[in-house]
Amino acid sequence: MQHINLALFASGQGSNALNIMSFFSNHPTISVELIVCNKADAPIVSATQNRNVAIEICDNEHIEKQGVLIGICEKHAINGVVLAGFLRKIPADFVSHFSNKILNIHPSLLPKYGGENMYGKKVHEAVLKNKEAKTGITIHFVNEEYDKGEIIAQFECQLEPTETLASIQEKIHSLEMENFPKVIEQVFSKA
Ligand code: GRF
Repeated sequence: MQHINLALFASGQGSNALNIMSFFSNHPTISVELIVCNKADAPIVSATQNRNVAIEICDNEHIEKQGVLIGICEKHAINGVVLAGFLRKIPADFVSHFSNKILNIHPSLLPKYGGENMYGKKVHEAVLKNKEAKTGITIHFVNEEYDKGEIIAQFECQLEPTETLASIQEKIHSLEMENFPKVIEQVFSKA
């Protein structure tokens, strides 16, 4: 089986990226080789520094330039990509280059609460406002449209009438920590 060299794209805290790095730290066929971040001062950048993983900063202007992200990934022999809290749209040339090899996590049960400008806290605030009885996470392949690629897996949690923004965030965070690495493993073990 081909060895998978993963790149994790993250923009902020990077709790998912760190969890994925730990999960694959001694994996026989999948390793995290690269963190791509669009902000030099993002917490994930400093958190990665003492690990044996390369870091590339690619600012928002460069991300959109054709070939830039592909070049960065080729430099590190990347053959699998995971968006873990990456808040920029991935350019079309990158999507077609890594067709069916880019996974994203979204903190809602897509197609609900997805699309442009639906990220982070905004998703949970909308769920709360609409008094949803459940929410969850979606792991999906990435295509040219925000949150529209083929769904790979969804995990749900029930919501109580007493739920707060913080309690929803905690439930979602637990689902992400528990399930995202396992789904990445399943997808890239079939590659
Ligand atoms: C996660 O909730 C993820 O689902 C969403 O952005 C958040 C990122 O959190 N896309 P972190 O940076 O991994 O801590």
